[in-house]
Amino acid sequence: MTDLDLIDAARQAASYSYSPYSNFAVGAALRFADGTVVTGTNIENASYGLALCAETVAVSKAMADGVRGGLEAVAVTGPGDMPITPCGRCRQVLNELAQLGGTDPVILCVGPDEVRRTTLSALLPDAFGPASLT
Ligand code: THU
Repeated sequence: MTDLDLIDAARQAASYSYSPYSNFAVGAALRFADGTVVTGTNIENASYGLALCAETVAVSKAMADGVRGGLEAVAVTGPGDMPITPCGRCRQVLNELAQLGGTDPVILCVGPDEVRRTTLSALLPDAFGPASLT
């Protein structure tokens, strides 16, 4: 699974977005060390503040299936004019899974004309995580 395939998987996930309130369909795709890909999309609610972000849905799907590490790359797609970066809460949620497996995943922030390639540690420096509680 190449980075472009991962981006395609995120775009595909975004096609299932339930975002009637924002009309802002986001897709996320997580790639793990064993090649597994888990996707998510944003799920909104009539009680607006309860919206679930695409990245958080993807991490929840993976962890609910028993995954606890090996997160190597994350692609995030959105409909806007600029590469979409994970929101603060999603950075923290991604960090939990990444730290459990001791990885610093590449984050592919996808825009219409460019893919901004960064890392989770760059997006969330000095992260609070599982190790912080010991
Ligand atoms: N959203 C995501 O799914 N991920 C992010 O990282 C940023 C925002 C969603 C939440 C909401 O459904 C819509 O985008 C507009 O904020």
